[in-house]
Amino acid sequence: MDSNDKPVAVVTGGGGGIGAACCRALAAEGFRVGIHYRSSETEARRLLEEIGEGFLLQGNLADIDDVENMVRTLKTVAGNVDVLVNNAGFSVDRDMLSMKVDEFDLQRTVTRGTWYLTKRVLRLFMLRRGTGRIINISSVTGHTGNSGQVPYTMEKAALDAFTKSLTKELRGREILVNSVAPGFIDTAMTRELPREVREAILSTVPLERMGTPDEVADVVAFLARRGTYITGTVIHVNGGLYGG
Ligand SMILES: NC(=O)c1ccc[n+]([C@@H]2O[C@H](COP(=O)([O-])OP(=O)(O)OC[C@H]3O[C@@H](n4cnc5c(N)ncnc54)[C@H](OP(=O)(O)O)[C@@H]3O)[C@@H](O)[C@H]2O)c1
Repeated sequence: MDSNDKPVAVVTGGGGGIGAACCRALAAEGFRVGIHYRSSETEARRLLEEIGEGFLLQGNLADIDDVENMVRTLKTVAGNVDVLVNNAGFSVDRDMLSMKVDEFDLQRTVTRGTWYLTKRVLRLFMLRRGTGRIINISSVTGHTGNSGQVPYTMEKAALDAFTKSLTKELRGREILVNSVAPGFIDTAMTRELPREVREAILSTVPLERMGTPDEVADVVAFLARRGTYITGTVIHVNGGLYGG
């Protein structure tokens, strides 16, 4: 098959962690993968070499002009987007009383950029064809809450609400929108946590271990290729930490 005949999947924050695992899993499913990165250029280039077929996409989701540039690249390099995995994210961790307004605003920027990128991808590609998959990587903490992460958990809960509302707006079309909500996954984000915090979280996980990025990516690949009657929902991948 010519690479241009392959369906296209774009993964934001594809340079490492869960995003990189999603890129690998989607490439294995036969997608031409657009690896988006903000600062992890070396990692993204290495990953592109590893998966062979695909393209790179750079941009800061906090900057709408950057998102527009990404959309321009998608038009010229990809020509279509069949699957959009909104994975990019970060957490400003601070207790409620110490959190500054500009830190709160910073936390909100990725959700804003994700909303805008999704809007542009819908308009330019998915609505024209009447098909597509949008997969939002949210978090168990958007459901359980987490001390020291009020704005992060607010944004993740918002992402799940985005999934549900967008599903309703897309009624009658084969554009499926879902969230995948990871629990405690072994990536750079969780490696930064102090040992006692990690141990406290692990003690609440019935499987008594952290998940791997591949275990999240497996579910993303399923939703991207199969899962044809699943939309508007949140799939939890958390080793039993929370049942939804
Ligand atoms: N690890 C967990 O336990 C866990 C649990 C629940 C949910 N999640 C969610 O899963 C997703 C992936 O997390 P991860 O653990 O794989 O963390 P990670 O390795 O830190 O990856 C996060 C990615 O987001 C990108 N990113 C952050 N801010 C961005 C911005 N303003 N514009 C564009 N890209 C931005 C980063 O890109 P660059 O590196 O290129 O800057 C990075 O590749 C996140 O949404 C996270 O909230 C993770």
